[in-house]
Amino acid sequence: MRKPIVAGNWKMHKNIPEAIELANGIKRGVLDLHNLDIVLCPPFTALSAVYDIIADSNIQLGAQDVYWQEQGAFTGEISVGMLKDVGCRFVIVGHSERRQYFFETNETVNRKIKSVLRANIIPILCVGETLPQREENKTLEIIKEQVFGGLKDIPAAEAEKIVIAYEPVWAIGTGRNATPVQAEEVQKYIRNLLSEMYNTSIAEAVRIQYGGSVKADNIEELINQPNIDGALVGGASLKEDSFTQIIKVCAKGEN
Ligand code: 13P
Repeated sequence: MRKPIVAGNWKMHKNIPEAIELANGIKRGVLDLHNLDIVLCPPFTALSAVYDIIADSNIQLGAQDVYWQEQGAFTGEISVGMLKDVGCRFVIVGHSERRQYFFETNETVNRKIKSVLRANIIPILCVGETLPQREENKTLEIIKEQVFGGLKDIPAAEAEKIVIAYEPVWAIGTGRNATPVQAEEVQKYIRNLLSEMYNTSIAEAVRIQYGGSVKADNIEELINQPNIDGALVGGASLKEDSFTQIIKVCAKGEN
């Protein structure tokens, strides 16, 4: 049985006081939930403040990006060591916004994943097709390139720890989520790819989240799919009520 994992990707939102308020609210709302992983991914500037609030709770800290070098003259970048320093256990890698606006490729994503695993942090590898790619029936081909490329040369023992987030680009921030059938089709395919790359026991162990317009009122039908193990939530993670409700639905049956 895979443990559900719900992560809130705050993107470029929340200053420090706002982040503290939101983290406190979520912490209060999910106090009694233990059989799932709950992760908050605030912007870099709020990581430390949020860590102070959730350090002794059932909530873990994640970052939204990382650079693969350990240190050096890389102005503006943040290393895995720095993320560990502030208490991060997770980091999102290869989000479609990073691929689209900051030109990340499967190769840079792969380098990042390797450095994250070396530091014993869990990467959340994001994959997903754009609308034109879906319309041209290229979804599975793109997903295969992203999964194979992102996990290139990563040994089985390490691969098992990774979380994959399927986030169709056309569903992100649009209010148009993938249907449970659409998401399940791709997520099942991702698990088959893992089986091909590694073996069935690794494929069965890896948790695959769905992301893209997840809301309190659509999470239930998504999480009920056999290959959807949680959610990576953007907009709805910025409000205490909606994020807490999403977490509760994902925890149902687990507590
Ligand atoms: P929304 O939930 O706002 O669609 O964002 C999804 C996302 O990109 C999470 O990483």
